[in-house]
Amino acid sequence: MFHFDNIIDRSQSSCEKWDKYKGLDVIPAWVADMDFRSPPCVIDALQKRVNEGVFGYTSVDAQTFDAIINFVHKRYGWKIEKEWILFTHGVVSSMNIACKSVGGESVLMTTPIYPHFTKAPKNMGQKVIAAPMIEKDGRWCIDFDALERLSKYSSKLFMLCNPYNPGGTVFTQKELTQLCAFCLEHNLIICSDEIHADLILNPNAKHIPIASLDERIAQQSITLMAPSKSFNIAGLQSSFVIIPNPILRGQFQKTMGNTIGGINLLGITAMRVAYEQGEPWLEALLVYLRENLHMVEQFVTKNPQLRLLSQDATFLAWIDATSLHVKSPYEFFLQHGVGLSDGAHFGDKNFVRLNFGTNKKTLKTILKRMQKAMDSLQ
Ligand SMILES: Cc1ncc(COP(=O)(O)O)c(C=O)c1O
Repeated sequence: MFHFDNIIDRSQSSCEKWDKYKGLDVIPAWVADMDFRSPPCVIDALQKRVNEGVFGYTSVDAQTFDAIINFVHKRYGWKIEKEWILFTHGVVSSMNIACKSVGGESVLMTTPIYPHFTKAPKNMGQKVIAAPMIEKDGRWCIDFDALERLSKYSSKLFMLCNPYNPGGTVFTQKELTQLCAFCLEHNLIICSDEIHADLILNPNAKHIPIASLDERIAQQSITLMAPSKSFNIAGLQSSFVIIPNPILRGQFQKTMGNTIGGINLLGITAMRVAYEQGEPWLEALLVYLRENLHMVEQFVTKNPQLRLLSQDATFLAWIDATSLHVKSPYEFFLQHGVGLSDGAHFGDKNFVRLNFGTNKKTLKTILKRMQKAMDSLQ
């Protein structure tokens, strides 16, 4: 019904992912967007909106709020209210606003992590206090002992990434409950980036919005969500923020001020339709991504110098290349024609991140080239 195998030429569409290596024999597998067309319902709705031909300032209608509220309730069992929702042009903008509006000299988080987590506090003149993730039973986990030690810095904000990027850990109810207890004890606001929530690949994992766990934590939380990864509409720059506590929400809104302008009308149209009608496409996508992850796992199993810990979510495989003993695993694979994300940008140069959100033919070529690279070491 949906055609994820189709090969889309993105080289002529001002596409950041493919333009990075324009003119070179390098297949890009870095930035987190997928090489798939968005759901047909989204494309149809955008076409209809474009045909109207009037693109003035826009507002968010009741139908859009309902689409968001229903989607979050249906997928995560979390009942949110219209008043709690604010709109921004992207999760990264929201992260920066959260740091500024909560304030404090430092911001607590875990590392390695998606680079904008560490950039946002620095942009606001705050220090980053980071607890390295640890490996436990084959998955990346939060080191609560390290967090406890770092609580002496008296940060006001903990920035959580769930599902985790990189590595794709989906935190369990037990882990989130422990994190809630820690944040309540140390009076930390949680800013929870849940942009990858819809992309759960492990059938035994379940995304739980941290704010849905406990009313007290809901009152100390800023949750960041977006349809951009799930429905491949990152270029439409539309995301939303859920803040149940009116004081915290007021601070966030005040910080936004006029720096974040109005809503992008095409982005908001796409968001509404994706949430209202896009679920069959999303479910089919998850099946396809699970198959792709399996191909990556098979490749890693064949190459014992590489390691992939248990990945619950996202189309981004976090590969440990420490045992290759090359100066830069990113450069090494680049020389063999694959443009991965450099682990150094996330905080560990011994890793690379492979975006497998592409058609199987391209993924096969990527893995073939990476295999050639591995073979060259023998
Ligand atoms: C964890 C995480 N947060 C935020 C973003 C970017 O969000 P946006 O494009 O909405 O700013 C990404 C993109 O890769 C991401 O992985």
